[in-house]
Amino acid sequence: MKLLKDKIILEGVVVNSEILKVSSFLNHQLDVKLLDAIGDEFSKLFCKKNVTRILTIESSGIALACVVARKMNNVPVVFAKKNKSGNVPEDVYTTSIYSFTHNKSYDIIVSKNFLHKDDNVLIIDDFLAKGSALNGLIDIIKQSGANFVGAGIAIEKGFQDGGKKLREQGFQIESLVIIEKMDCCGNIFFKN
Ligand code: G4P
Repeated sequence: MKLLKDKIILEGVVVNSEILKVSSFLNHQLDVKLLDAIGDEFSKLFCKKNVTRILTIESSGIALACVVARKMNNVPVVFAKKNKSGNVPEDVYTTSIYSFTHNKSYDIIVSKNFLHKDDNVLIIDDFLAKGSALNGLIDIIKQSGANFVGAGIAIEKGFQDGGKKLREQGFQIESLVIIEKMDCCGNIFFKN
């Protein structure tokens, strides 16, 4: 997606060869016009999937998921919560996620009230790296018995293997921008 790629080139900050900072338009301040265009893209890519619910994970996925939902008949958006207390409440689906970026594990929860076995669920998220978050969300969908129709990702780091492994399993993973490499001089090399 040219608009997103141009924005990354203009405002993205290469922190190191692994991490790209996009706080000025996606992770802290939000560029709503860009989000709107991203919503258009994902709604086109998944328009034939009869999506009934969008699933994401707090926090940065929420805004993106909402704009996509607006373009897809206002389907409900559900976000997995990061469980900060040691206790797991009743009536939730839960799974553990290991974040390579933050080097720690955390549990996510989704209320059983908000995912049903007759749902066609689209996952939306901002970043795809090693795929831990995405695999956790897919696990939650499996627990609910719902149908996972695919995932829409704004920025995939193609040099990490999350997207590759998920596509090998036959899942439809659509990334609007795939970064092949970043170097220590701040250069970003794109795949698409
Ligand atoms: P993975 O799920 O694909 O394995 O990735 P990982 O656990 O490493 O990512 C954990 C968090 O870091 C996620 O956000 C993810 O969106 C974010 N992330 C991963 N790589 C990058 C990157 O290069 N740049 C930026 N800006 N974020 C990255 P989170 O911790 O859940 O935080 P939130 O922003 O959604 O609140």
